[in-house]
Amino acid sequence: LHAALKHKPHITMDDGADLISLLHTDYAAQAKDIYGSMEETTTGVIRLRALERDKKLKLPVVAVNDARTKNMFDNRYGTGQSTLDGIIRATNILLSGSVFVVAGYGWCGRGLASRARGMGARVIVTEVDHLVALEAVMDGFEVMPMADAASKGDIFCTVTGNTHVIRKEHFAAMKDGAVVCNSGHFDVEIDMKALATSAGAPPKELRHSLQEYILPGGKRLLVLAEGRLVNLAAAEGHPPTVMDMSFATQSLAAEYVAKNKGKLEIKVHTLSLEIEELIASLKLRSMGVAIDTLTDEQKNYLASWEGGT
Ligand SMILES: NC(=O)c1ccc[n+]([C@@H]2O[C@H](COP(=O)([O-])OP(=O)(O)OC[C@H]3O[C@@H](n4cnc5c(N)ncnc54)[C@H](O)[C@@H]3O)[C@@H](O)[C@H]2O)c1
Repeated sequence: LHAALKHKPHITMDDGADLISLLHTDYAAQAKDIYGSMEETTTGVIRLRALERDKKLKLPVVAVNDARTKNMFDNRYGTGQSTLDGIIRATNILLSGSVFVVAGYGWCGRGLASRARGMGARVIVTEVDHLVALEAVMDGFEVMPMADAASKGDIFCTVTGNTHVIRKEHFAAMKDGAVVCNSGHFDVEIDMKALATSAGAPPKELRHSLQEYILPGGKRLLVLAEGRLVNLAAAEGHPPTVMDMSFATQSLAAEYVAKNKGKLEIKVHTLSLEIEELIASLKLRSMGVAIDTLTDEQKNYLASWEGGT
């Protein structure tokens, strides 16, 4: 990031708002020269909205993550699949019949939970949002607090974008041999310090990306990729056939920033529906899928309040 900023860019692309953070701290003098920046992930957008809320944001940013062409596909299908890929590569565990706990039922969590169920796991969801938790219940998942899920799960994966979702008291309640991992952006979702303190001794590296912690009494807990993004550390991230949509969103956002240089308000912008429509139509075309077009009669019907009853 430091090397990139030394080139004095005018347009930047970020993932997690690390680069934009630098433009608000060590490189703050350069912020005024940035026409705009793009942000790829949920956690980055959260940080940017916090900067905006505190009236500290110094440059226009486009929340690429908030485009449906990004979160509905990359977060859901990409993270859903690549997270399972990472867990399987690191452990060679059989998902069928296992109790799989997904913390967070957002875009990533939904994708992960439905894929784990598709592999035969019995999936438990933990949430803090009533509406989202209700959705998980209605989608057919068991929903409960982590305090209850902790003793039931064979595999735990956090995808909340929040901190210390799995903590000391949860480790204490887990079964011998439980697998714990994270696919949220930062390695803060599992309280690794608390685990290290509870264990008292350094973990044993059982195989690549798989560390075994032994708790007092002999219980073993298996942590993947040191609590970092398991799909990136233990697998290959998302397949290109979903990243193409994220990158199309990024590049069209960059074009929008370039075309509007000097005109964009300093705030977190969202991409226009036209751009989302264009990307979705191109993706469908690349997949050989055609859809219907509204007739004039249908357009009029949808635009009118008089028709219907
Ligand atoms: N692994 C990857 O490649 C990848 C890809 C995309 C996004 N991400 C990251 O994954 C995380 C989640 O992204 P998202 O798009 O699903 O976000 P989201 O906002 O759609 O969903 C997060 C969900 O977690 C819930 N949550 C928050 N705190 C919780 C807690 N303590 N316990 C249980 N649930 C809690 C929220 O209520 C929300 O429903 C972010 O950090 C994001 O940056 C990772």
